[in-house]
Amino acid sequence: MPLFGQNRGMDRVTGHGATPIDLPVIVTERLRLRSFHPDDVDWVYELSLDPEMLRWVSLPVPYERNHAQFFVENIAIARAHNGTAANFVIENAATGQPLGRIGLHRKTDTAAEVGYWLAAHARGSGVMTEAVRTACRWGFSQEGMGLRRILWHALVGNVGSRKVTERAGFTIHSKSEIMFRRGQPSEKWSGVLIAPQSPDAPRLG
Ligand SMILES: CC(C)(COP(=O)(O)OP(=O)(O)OC[C@H]1O[C@@H](n2cnc3c(N)ncnc32)[C@H](O)[C@@H]1OP(=O)(O)O)[C@@H](O)C(=O)NCCC(=O)NCCS
Repeated sequence: MPLFGQNRGMDRVTGHGATPIDLPVIVTERLRLRSFHPDDVDWVYELSLDPEMLRWVSLPVPYERNHAQFFVENIAIARAHNGTAANFVIENAATGQPLGRIGLHRKTDTAAEVGYWLAAHARGSGVMTEAVRTACRWGFSQEGMGLRRILWHALVGNVGSRKVTERAGFTIHSKSEIMFRRGQPSEKWSGVLIAPQSPDAPRLG
């Protein structure tokens, strides 16, 4: 049954009337995507202390363990329960080691924004490209979130993040826009991936 097949038009971003998202376990060639558990706090905390995280991701500074706990409990777990976001732990499928996170945060009934981060030791070998492709395919499916478009934003200069979305098929907007980060205006890149079966998808030929 489509998870969001009923009550279209209700405000799902605030969670009113939203259907909980039952995250599946998805196994790919190298990875396993699964839902968050309360005992994921420690590795999220360690990963978030990485300088590249503080540079590119809007995290509290200084970053403390209770911030990781808030993310795991009040964002990753709670928003799946209230139907406003799907956040997956990305694990090494062979060892079960957590490598990072990929999330789809619902903006409207049919659109979500993708967000992701990876432990420093796991970067540079295509892990996130594999995770983004997998999560987006699931997000577009009727068994998943029934999305028609997935949006991406990153601070200008985050070349690694941009390469990931380009490889996953996103169209990057030619002009940068302004986003607010820690209260300061910053330039951002934006992109969009349209569901293959969507009426919004460009027609070929
Ligand atoms: C962005 C991020 C998820 C990329 O993950 P990844 O697994 O390294 O991505 P992939 O290996 O699939 O592809 C990344 C590509 O970008 C390149 N890249 C990564 N960081 C780069 C950088 N700082 N400058 C230039 N290229 C970079 C990689 O070399 C690779 O390209 P290549 O295969 O041609 O060499 C990871 O670097 C990360 O977690 N960064 C910190 C958090 C973050 O920025 N999140 C995104 C916020 S929008």
